[in-house]
Amino acid sequence: MADACENAVLTHLSQFPDAVISDTFPWSKENGFDHGAVVGCIKSLEVDGYVVAESLSTSFYTLSDEAEGILANGISQEMAVFNAIVAAGSISEPDLIAAVGKDIAKIGMGKCMQNKWIQKDKETKSLVPAAVAGDVKDEVVEQLQALKEGKFAEDAISSEVSKALKKRKLINLTTRKSMKVARGPSYAPVRKRKAADLTKEMLETGAWQTTEFKPYNFQAFGEKVGGGYLHPLLKVRAEFRKILLEMGFAEMPTNKWVESSFWNFDSLFQPQSHPARDAHDTFFIKEPASTVSVPEDYYERVKTMHEVGGSGSIGYRYDFKREEAFKNLLRTHTTAVSSQMLYKLANQEGGFKPARYFSIDRVFRNETMDATHLCEFHQVEGLVADYDLSLGDLIGTIETFFKKIGITKLRFKPAFNPYTEPSMEIFGYHPDLKKWTEIGNSGMFRPEMLAPMGLPENVRVIAWGLSLERPTMIKYRIKNIRELFGHKVDMGRTRTAPVCRFDSQA
Ligand code: PHE
Repeated sequence: MADACENAVLTHLSQFPDAVISDTFPWSKENGFDHGAVVGCIKSLEVDGYVVAESLSTSFYTLSDEAEGILANGISQEMAVFNAIVAAGSISEPDLIAAVGKDIAKIGMGKCMQNKWIQKDKETKSLVPAAVAGDVKDEVVEQLQALKEGKFAEDAISSEVSKALKKRKLINLTTRKSMKVARGPSYAPVRKRKAADLTKEMLETGAWQTTEFKPYNFQAFGEKVGGGYLHPLLKVRAEFRKILLEMGFAEMPTNKWVESSFWNFDSLFQPQSHPARDAHDTFFIKEPASTVSVPEDYYERVKTMHEVGGSGSIGYRYDFKREEAFKNLLRTHTTAVSSQMLYKLANQEGGFKPARYFSIDRVFRNETMDATHLCEFHQVEGLVADYDLSLGDLIGTIETFFKKIGITKLRFKPAFNPYTEPSMEIFGYHPDLKKWTEIGNSGMFRPEMLAPMGLPENVRVIAWGLSLERPTMIKYRIKNIRELFGHKVDMGRTRTAPVCRFDSQA
């Protein structure tokens, strides 16, 4: 079909050099082609220079079924009604309907009244003529006739007449797009297809030497490169990581989700009866239910600290249970890793050296899920271990970090953590929401936590933590956490989420 159409176009233009197809629409009809197919074919020929085409836009009127009826009968509804009334002299409505039919009577009566051709006799209520028969002209028929004679062209009737006929829903103006076609610069009566690809066969037979190739289209879009996309949380993580590395922090190895209660709670001086250690808050592991080993000497020192205290503390004064300490769980915070790093720092070869660590990874809590809470989320955690650090160092470090992620107004509120003293909740001013929101937690690790590890007495450790989800939701303007994380996440959004950059004021 496409070939037949192509041949017909080229043959038509072959008649003489100036041959044209003046309008593809009638031409398609005459030659038995679908107009859409002809247009497609001409566009393809035009690309290769065989033809040049010019767009045409033709406006013409079409008649509604009612108008077709009027033209066929040669009389409008109003004329039919008027004639019937003139013939009867006076006629009741039901009789008129019986005489001319319901549809004609309905439209015709209205128009006759409008034109003041008829009126209603006040006494008898019957219809009587109001105009002299010779004075009345059937204008609608004349107008439709004029249209037909003018081949329904846009200028066949005046715009006023056109408006009136359109209002009466007798005609419609339609615009048709078509083309005028002439020979192009590379015109030939038969199209030679250019090759798109160089094939093995062309090379073998030498045909490549005579084959005409399509030119390269350097404007064409390349194929979309699919593949992996970073989730918004990972984009924010990459940016946080960069900031913390810039601040001289080293990343802690947090790629282990299962921890023992010993590292998650006991090493942090969190008593074994603490409510957070209940199955309602923590996911305990069934298989394997308990850990294999912990550093025994350190275990003993932690146990002693819980039971009787030390370093100026009186401890919690309860029986520290080994089974409780050995219970496996999904870590409830990345502080479980921080304590292991501090233990290593205290016991490394050559002894303690000041250090800055951070981590950004997943934690698990047995939470009731809602728009802002899930059972698993991510924590950003930082710590600095050095001699004689003070609360001022903690506030200063936190301020520097948050400044770098664009949060400049901070407030601190006294809080409680089993493993820090003093502890401070961090509030940031949210410029969009125009209010103070809690953005993190912080503190100085307690001597009860640090002493059993074997850290020198005047070493202080300052630390803070925040969720990765909160700043990500603010950054990407996500209201419900389920749209960020979990099975309801829209993959399209992940693919198109922009790279995360924080306006750094520091
Ligand atoms: N572990 C705390 C939490 O889960 C965060 C924190 C880290 C607080 C370090 C103080 C110091 O919320």
